[in-house]
Amino acid sequence: MQQATPAATAPSLIYKLASIVERLDPAGLFPTVQPLEVELGSGDGSFLVNYAKLHPERNFLGVERLLGRLRKIDRKGRRAGLTNLRGLRIESSYLLEYLLPLQSVAALHIYFPDPWPKRKHRKNRLVNARFTELAHQALKPDGVIYLRTDDKDYFEQMVTVFAANPTFRLVETPAELSGVVTDFERNFHARGVPTLQAAYTKAE
Ligand SMILES: C[S@@+](CC[C@H](N)C(=O)[O-])C[C@H]1O[C@@H](n2cnc3c(N)ncnc32)[C@H](O)[C@@H]1O
Repeated sequence: MQQATPAATAPSLIYKLASIVERLDPAGLFPTVQPLEVELGSGDGSFLVNYAKLHPERNFLGVERLLGRLRKIDRKGRRAGLTNLRGLRIESSYLLEYLLPLQSVAALHIYFPDPWPKRKHRKNRLVNARFTELAHQALKPDGVIYLRTDDKDYFEQMVTVFAANPTFRLVETPAELSGVVTDFERNFHARGVPTLQAAYTKAE
């Protein structure tokens, strides 16, 4: 008889919220209490699974509103035998505003968020002035937010809103982090489309 692979027997990495009005207890999500990093809009999990493999000393929560993509993250994570990764199906802004404990997150990763290029749709962009306040609320005192996009106009908006918020200051993105690419990023690079990145840490 064929032996079951660890991926087939490992429990699902998809976290089911017990409540949508009480804040999460990160200690209850992972077997080990260690610094928490959150990726908003994880897509198929290409970045998060590889980065979680590189950093077993950190916990990672991938946030994605599409169930099919969340299932991909789950499959990849279980195949890799990861215990420091969880996926959650929720709207990113709602998670930041209502579910993450205050000052609980060591790093936020936001890579290639939907660009909403039409002027009348820009109000739908995730990264705006209000978002900087929500990120500040969720991040620990020395927490960092990492951003990447291929959309020049959206990048300008990201840089403008963080520059206008004095509780953040610009920092370098470590090369080790930049080297771990996302699914969309791999595709952009393959087509020769330039991409942009920026990172901000809490200044106060
Ligand atoms: C353009 S894709 C980028 C995916 C991935 N970060 C990458 O770079 O390959 C944006 C992803 O964010 C998800 N998404 C968009 N808005 C979201 C929101 N408000 N909350 C959670 N996920 C969202 C989409 O379903 C999609 O998977």
